[in-house]
Amino acid sequence: MSRVRLGVNVDHAATVRQARYRGEHLSPHAEPDLAAFAAEAMAGGADGITVHLREDRRHLQDSDLPALMALPGCRLNLEMACTGEMAELAARLRPAAACLVPESRAEVTTEGGLDASGQLARVRATTAALAAAGIEVSLFIDPVPAQVEAARAAGAPVIELHTGRWARAFGVDAATAAAELARLESAARQASALGLVVNAGHGVNYRNARVIRGLPFLNELNIGHSIVARSLLVGARAAVGEMRAALG
Ligand code: PXP
Repeated sequence: MSRVRLGVNVDHAATVRQARYRGEHLSPHAEPDLAAFAAEAMAGGADGITVHLREDRRHLQDSDLPALMALPGCRLNLEMACTGEMAELAARLRPAAACLVPESRAEVTTEGGLDASGQLARVRATTAALAAAGIEVSLFIDPVPAQVEAARAAGAPVIELHTGRWARAFGVDAATAAAELARLESAARQASALGLVVNAGHGVNYRNARVIRGLPFLNELNIGHSIVARSLLVGARAAVGEMRAALG
C-alpha cells in the first residue's frame, strides 16, 4: 500500500474559540490561535490543512484564511458550498484545493454527499470557475456510481468519498459496516478507472483509520473531529503524529 496523505480539518479548534467569541468582534488575542494549532498539526505530520467556511460562519471566520494560507508549506483545502458567493471568495483567495460539499444550516456536520448528478450544470460551472483560478477541485460525494460518474462529467479531477455511514456502523453493526465498506471500495475502483483521484473522509478516528486506509487507490484522508478531540489531551502535534502512525 502506498502512503496515504493526511489532511487535518481544524474547524473544531475554531469551534472552541467561537464558543467564547460568537457574535463578538474577534480579538487578535482570541484563543486558541487557529494558525498556531494548524502549524502544530503540520509539525506532527499533516500533509495539509482542511477547513470548512460555512455560510453561518459557526467556526471558521473569513479572517482565518489568510493566516492559514501564510503558514509555510501549508497546503490549504477549502471545503465550501457550491454557491456563487463561495466560488468568488475562493477564486480571490486561491487555496491549493477546494472541496465542494452540500450545506444546510440545520446540520451539526456535513450529513450527506453532494448531489452532483442532480445539479450537474451548477457543479460543472463552479468546478470550471475554481479550476480557472488554479484551484484543484474535489467533490465530496456518497459512494454511489451515479455520483462518481457525475464527478467525472463535471470535470472535477478529485473526489472525496463520504465515509460517514461506514464510520457510524464500524464497531456497532458489522453487517452494515461491511456493506458500506464494499460500497466505498467499489466507488474507489470506479473513480480510479475514470481517472479520478480518490480521497475520503468523515468520521475517521483512531479506531477505524487502519481499516479505511486500505481503501483501494486511496490518495488522502481528511480527518477532523477525532484529531481535535485527541489534541485536547496530548496536543495537536502528538495527536496528528498518532494518527500518522495509525495510517502507516
Ligand atoms: N471531509 C469533509 C468533506 C467534511 O465535511 C468533514 C467534516 O467537516 C470531514 C472530512 C472531517 O470529518 P470528521 O470531523 O468527522 O473527521
